[in-house]
Amino acid sequence: MFQRRRLPWPVEPAFTLPMSNPLRLGILGSGKGSNMVAIADAISRGDVPARIVTVISDVESAGILDHARSRGFPAQFIAPGKFRTKLDEDAERAYIDALKAAEVDLVVLAGFMRILKGEFLRLFEQRVINIHPSLLPAFPGLAAWKQALDYGVKFAGCTVHYVDQGVDTGPIIAQTAVPVVDGDTATTLHERIQLAERSLYPRVVAAMARDQIKVSGRSTAGLP
Ligand code: GAR
Repeated sequence: MFQRRRLPWPVEPAFTLPMSNPLRLGILGSGKGSNMVAIADAISRGDVPARIVTVISDVESAGILDHARSRGFPAQFIAPGKFRTKLDEDAERAYIDALKAAEVDLVVLAGFMRILKGEFLRLFEQRVINIHPSLLPAFPGLAAWKQALDYGVKFAGCTVHYVDQGVDTGPIIAQTAVPVVDGDTATTLHERIQLAERSLYPRVVAAMARDQIKVSGRSTAGLP
Protein backbone atom coordinates (compact mmCIF):
# COMPACT_ATOMS: atom_id res chain seq x y z
CA MET A 1 0.00 0.00 0.00
CA PHE A 2 1.50 3.34 -1.02
CA GLN A 3 0.83 6.70 0.51
CA ARG A 4 2.22 10.05 -0.56
CA ARG A 5 4.61 11.61 1.91
CA ARG A 6 6.71 14.70 1.89
CA LEU A 7 10.42 14.20 1.49
CA PRO A 8 12.22 14.73 4.77
CA TRP A 9 13.91 17.98 3.90
CA PRO A 10 12.73 20.70 1.59
CA VAL A 11 13.86 20.61 -2.01
CA GLU A 12 12.92 23.05 -4.74
CA PRO A 13 10.49 22.55 -6.31
CA ALA A 14 8.79 20.65 -3.47
CA PHE A 15 7.82 17.13 -4.44
CA THR A 16 6.79 13.87 -2.82
CA LEU A 17 7.80 10.28 -3.37
CA PRO A 18 5.77 7.21 -2.52
CA MET A 19 6.61 5.48 0.76
CA SER A 20 4.99 2.19 1.66
CA ASN A 21 3.34 1.22 4.89
CA PRO A 22 4.95 -0.78 6.42
CA LEU A 23 8.17 0.86 5.31
CA ARG A 24 10.33 -1.37 3.10
CA LEU A 25 13.90 -1.46 4.38
CA GLY A 26 17.02 -2.37 2.46
CA ILE A 27 19.87 -2.94 4.92
CA LEU A 28 23.52 -2.72 3.86
CA GLY A 29 26.28 -3.95 6.14
CA SER A 30 29.84 -5.22 6.10
CA GLY A 31 30.16 -6.64 9.61
CA LYS A 32 28.60 -8.82 12.23
CA GLY A 33 25.12 -7.38 11.88
CA SER A 34 24.15 -6.48 15.46
CA ASN A 35 22.33 -3.34 14.32
CA MET A 36 20.40 -5.26 11.68
CA VAL A 37 19.44 -7.84 14.33
CA ALA A 38 18.29 -5.07 16.70
CA ILE A 39 16.08 -3.58 13.98
CA ALA A 40 14.71 -7.03 13.04
CA ASP A 41 13.94 -7.81 16.71
CA ALA A 42 12.19 -4.46 17.16
CA ILE A 43 10.08 -5.15 14.06
CA SER A 44 9.17 -8.61 15.42
CA ARG A 45 8.10 -7.06 18.74
CA GLY A 46 5.79 -4.73 16.81
CA ASP A 47 7.78 -1.63 17.75
CA VAL A 48 8.75 -0.65 14.18
CA PRO A 49 6.16 -0.58 11.36
CA ALA A 50 8.62 -1.77 8.71
CA ARG A 51 9.76 -4.86 6.81
CA ILE A 52 13.30 -5.86 5.94
CA VAL A 53 12.99 -6.70 2.25
CA THR A 54 16.65 -7.13 1.40
CA VAL A 55 20.03 -7.33 3.12
CA ILE A 56 23.17 -6.77 1.06
CA SER A 57 26.82 -7.03 2.02
CA ASP A 58 30.07 -6.21 0.28
CA VAL A 59 31.76 -8.93 2.39
CA GLU A 60 30.85 -12.48 1.41
CA SER A 61 31.54 -13.92 4.89
CA ALA A 62 29.90 -11.10 6.86
CA GLY A 63 27.85 -12.17 9.87
CA ILE A 64 25.04 -9.85 8.80
CA LEU A 65 24.27 -12.20 5.89
CA ASP A 66 24.08 -15.24 8.21
CA HIS A 67 21.78 -13.40 10.61
CA ALA A 68 19.59 -12.25 7.72
CA ARG A 69 19.33 -15.72 6.19
CA SER A 70 18.56 -17.34 9.53
CA ARG A 71 15.65 -14.92 9.87
CA GLY A 72 14.43 -15.62 6.34
CA PHE A 73 15.29 -12.23 4.82
CA PRO A 74 16.50 -12.14 1.22
CA ALA A 75 20.24 -11.65 1.60
CA GLN A 76 23.07 -11.42 -0.88
CA PHE A 77 26.72 -10.59 -1.29
CA ILE A 78 27.39 -8.09 -4.05
CA ALA A 79 31.07 -7.66 -4.85
CA PRO A 80 32.19 -4.04 -4.36
CA GLY A 81 34.57 -3.96 -7.32
CA LYS A 82 38.08 -2.69 -7.60
CA PHE A 83 38.17 0.10 -4.99
CA ARG A 84 38.91 -0.24 -1.28
CA THR A 85 36.66 2.45 0.19
CA LYS A 86 33.81 2.85 -2.30
CA LEU A 87 31.83 0.89 -4.89
CA ASP A 88 33.09 0.92 -8.46
CA GLU A 89 30.68 1.86 -11.23
CA ASP A 90 29.49 -1.68 -12.01
CA ALA A 91 29.06 -2.49 -8.33
CA GLU A 92 27.11 0.72 -7.69
CA ARG A 93 24.77 -0.22 -10.53
CA ALA A 94 24.34 -3.74 -9.09
CA TYR A 95 23.49 -2.34 -5.63
CA ILE A 96 21.02 0.13 -7.13
CA ASP A 97 19.35 -2.58 -9.23
CA ALA A 98 19.03 -4.92 -6.23
CA LEU A 99 17.51 -2.21 -4.02
CA LYS A 100 15.12 -1.11 -6.74
CA ALA A 101 14.10 -4.70 -7.49
CA ALA A 102 13.24 -5.09 -3.79
CA GLU A 103 11.21 -1.83 -3.96
CA VAL A 104 13.09 -0.38 -1.02
CA ASP A 105 11.78 2.84 0.54
CA LEU A 106 14.65 3.44 2.94
CA VAL A 107 18.27 2.32 2.71
CA VAL A 108 19.62 1.62 6.19
CA LEU A 109 23.40 1.50 6.48
CA ALA A 110 24.27 -0.77 9.39
CA GLY A 111 28.03 -1.00 9.50
CA PHE A 112 28.43 -0.63 5.72
CA MET A 113 32.07 0.35 5.37
CA ARG A 114 31.99 1.90 1.91
CA ILE A 115 31.28 5.46 0.94
CA LEU A 116 28.18 5.91 -1.20
CA LYS A 117 28.25 8.73 -3.70
CA GLY A 118 26.99 10.10 -7.00
CA GLU A 119 24.35 8.14 -8.79
CA PHE A 120 23.40 6.05 -5.74
CA LEU A 121 22.61 9.09 -3.59
CA ARG A 122 20.88 10.85 -6.48
CA LEU A 123 18.54 7.90 -6.97
CA PHE A 124 17.89 7.39 -3.25
CA GLU A 125 17.96 11.07 -2.46
CA GLN A 126 17.16 11.65 1.23
CA ARG A 127 16.38 7.94 1.57
CA VAL A 128 19.68 6.72 3.02
CA ILE A 129 20.50 6.77 6.74
CA ASN A 130 23.60 5.65 8.60
CA ILE A 131 24.68 4.91 12.15
CA HIS A 132 28.12 6.12 13.14
CA PRO A 133 29.92 5.24 16.39
CA SER A 134 30.72 8.78 17.56
CA LEU A 135 28.99 12.01 18.46
CA LEU A 136 29.30 13.64 15.04
CA PRO A 137 30.72 15.96 13.85
CA ALA A 138 33.50 14.64 16.12
CA PHE A 139 35.46 11.69 14.81
CA PRO A 140 34.07 10.89 11.35
CA GLY A 141 35.61 8.03 9.42
CA LEU A 142 37.06 4.74 10.60
CA ALA A 143 37.28 3.31 14.16
CA ALA A 144 35.59 6.40 15.61
CA TRP A 145 35.50 4.92 19.14
CA LYS A 146 39.29 4.55 19.04
CA GLN A 147 39.69 8.11 17.77
CA ALA A 148 37.53 9.29 20.71
CA LEU A 149 39.51 7.26 23.25
CA ASP A 150 42.84 8.45 21.86
CA TYR A 151 41.61 12.06 22.00
CA GLY A 152 40.68 11.68 25.66
CA VAL A 153 37.00 12.65 25.52
CA LYS A 154 34.80 11.95 28.56
CA PHE A 155 31.72 11.24 26.44
CA ALA A 156 31.66 9.23 23.26
CA GLY A 157 28.46 7.99 21.63
CA CYS A 158 26.62 7.24 18.43
CA THR A 159 24.81 9.23 15.76
CA VAL A 160 22.12 8.39 13.23
CA HIS A 161 22.22 10.75 10.27
CA TYR A 162 21.06 11.13 6.70
CA VAL A 163 23.75 10.28 4.19
CA ASP A 164 24.88 13.02 1.88
CA GLN A 165 27.83 13.31 -0.50
CA GLY A 166 30.31 13.90 2.34
CA VAL A 167 31.75 11.40 4.81
CA ASP A 168 29.49 11.30 7.90
CA THR A 169 28.31 14.86 7.22
CA GLY A 170 24.55 14.58 6.57
CA PRO A 171 21.87 16.11 8.84
CA ILE A 172 21.84 14.50 12.28
CA ILE A 173 18.60 12.71 13.25
CA ALA A 174 19.51 11.42 16.72
CA GLN A 175 22.44 10.89 19.06
CA THR A 176 23.14 9.02 22.29
CA ALA A 177 26.04 10.00 24.53
CA VAL A 178 28.01 7.21 26.17
CA PRO A 179 30.43 7.88 29.04
CA VAL A 180 34.08 6.94 28.76
CA VAL A 181 35.12 5.30 32.05
CA ASP A 182 38.52 4.87 33.68
CA GLY A 183 40.34 1.89 32.25
CA ASP A 184 38.31 1.76 29.03
CA THR A 185 39.96 0.07 26.09
CA ALA A 186 38.91 0.48 22.49
CA THR A 187 37.04 -2.82 22.85
CA THR A 188 35.11 -1.97 26.04
CA LEU A 189 34.19 1.48 24.76
CA HIS A 190 33.05 0.12 21.41
CA GLU A 191 30.88 -2.48 23.18
CA ARG A 192 29.23 0.25 25.28
CA ILE A 193 28.63 2.37 22.17
CA GLN A 194 27.17 -0.61 20.32
CA LEU A 195 24.70 -1.21 23.16
CA ALA A 196 23.51 2.36 22.68
CA GLU A 197 23.33 1.85 18.90
CA ARG A 198 21.08 -1.18 19.29
CA SER A 199 18.58 0.93 21.18
CA LEU A 200 18.85 4.11 19.09
CA TYR A 201 18.71 2.75 15.54
CA PRO A 202 15.36 0.90 15.86
CA ARG A 203 13.82 4.01 17.47
CA VAL A 204 14.93 6.15 14.54
CA VAL A 205 13.69 3.67 11.94
CA ALA A 206 10.34 3.50 13.76
CA ALA A 207 10.05 7.28 13.76
CA MET A 208 10.88 7.41 10.06
CA ALA A 209 8.36 4.68 9.29
CA ARG A 210 5.75 6.74 11.13
CA ASP A 211 6.78 9.87 9.21
CA GLN A 212 7.62 11.66 12.45
CA ILE A 213 11.01 13.05 11.46
CA LYS A 214 10.84 16.60 10.14
CA VAL A 215 13.86 18.23 8.57
CA SER A 216 14.58 21.86 7.96
CA GLY A 217 18.00 22.60 6.56
CA ARG A 218 20.40 20.76 8.86
CA SER A 219 17.93 20.63 11.74
CA THR A 220 15.77 17.62 12.37
CA ALA A 221 13.02 17.09 14.92
CA GLY A 222 10.42 14.54 15.87
CA LEU A 223 12.19 11.60 17.51
CA PRO A 224 9.86 10.61 20.36
C1 GAR B 1 28.68 -0.22 14.26
O1 GAR B 1 29.34 0.09 15.46
C2 GAR B 1 28.53 1.02 13.41
O2 GAR B 1 28.36 2.18 14.15
C3 GAR B 1 29.82 1.04 12.67
O3 GAR B 1 30.06 -0.32 12.34
C4 GAR B 1 29.54 -1.13 13.39
C5 GAR B 1 28.73 -2.24 12.75
O4 GAR B 1 28.35 -3.17 13.71
N1 GAR B 1 29.72 1.84 11.49
C6 GAR B 1 30.68 2.64 11.08
O5 GAR B 1 31.74 2.75 11.63
C7 GAR B 1 30.33 3.44 9.84
N2 GAR B 1 31.24 4.52 9.65
P1 GAR B 1 27.26 -4.27 13.36
O6 GAR B 1 27.70 -4.97 12.08
O7 GAR B 1 27.30 -5.19 14.54
O8 GAR B 1 25.93 -3.59 13.20
